[in-house]
Amino acid sequence: VDRPRPLVAGNWKMNGLRASAKVLGEIQAGYTAALKSKVDLAICPPATLVGSFAVLSVGSRVAIGGQDCHAKESGAYTGEISAEMLADAGATYVLAGHSERRQYNGEKDADVAAKAAAAQRAGLTAIVCVGETKAEREAGRTLNVVRKQLRGSIPADSTSQNLVVAYEPVWAIGTGLTPTAADVAEVHAAIREELRRLVGKAEQSRVRILYGGSVKPSNAAELMAVDNVDGALVGGASLIAADFLGIAGAY
Ligand code: G3P
Repeated sequence: VDRPRPLVAGNWKMNGLRASAKVLGEIQAGYTAALKSKVDLAICPPATLVGSFAVLSVGSRVAIGGQDCHAKESGAYTGEISAEMLADAGATYVLAGHSERRQYNGEKDADVAAKAAAAQRAGLTAIVCVGETKAEREAGRTLNVVRKQLRGSIPADSTSQNLVVAYEPVWAIGTGLTPTAADVAEVHAAIREELRRLVGKAEQSRVRILYGGSVKPSNAAELMAVDNVDGALVGGASLIAADFLGIAGAY
C-alpha cells in the first residue's frame, strides 16, 4: 500500500493580524524544494486573513484553509461564512468539527457532517476532527467515541481528495501532553478500519489521518513515525514559522 503524501496543517485558531503575514512569508521561504518533495503544508488562519493569505500564497504551494464554515451556501445567517466564500477567497481546505467548535459552539456530529459536505460541494477538502476527552479516555471509551464521531461526522461519498481526518485527543490540545506512540497507533488503526466502511476499501488507504495535540518539533519525529499517521494538525507551534517548519521537517 502506498502511504498517502503527508500533510502538516497549522490551525491558528483566534490568533493572527495583518502583520502575521510575516509568519506566512517565513513559512513559505522555509518550504524548500527538499521539503516540498516530502510533505504538503497548509495554514488555516482566522477568516479575516484567508483572502489575503491566499493571494500571498499564489505560487508558494502553501495551501490556505478556513477553520469552520456554515452548512448552507448563502442566506440570512448573520456572522457566518460559507464554504463557497472560503473557496472564493482562495482556500482549499477547511476544518470541520474541531473540538473547540464542538465544545464552545455545541456542534454535534450531524452538524459537522453537514459542514464537511458543504465544504466538499464547494470544492474544498474537509479536515474532519475527532477525539476523546480525558474522562472518556480514563473510562476506556476512546475507540468507541472516535468511531462514533467518524460515523456521524464524515459525509457519504467522501474521497481521499476531499476528506482528511484529524485525530485530536481533547486532553492533549494546548496542554503539552501527548498520548504514547502506542496509543496513537491504536487509535489511528481504528480510524483506518472505520474508514474502510465509510469510504470504501480502495479509498481508505489514501485518506490522510493527521495527529493533533501538542505537536512540537521535539516530539514530531516520534509521532509522525507511527503507522497510519499521515501528518499533523498543529495549533500553538504553527504560529512560529521555525517550529512549524521543524515539525514539517520531521518527514
Ligand atoms: O487543531 C490543532 C490543535 O487543536 C492542537 O493545538 O496547540 O496543542 O498544537 P496545540
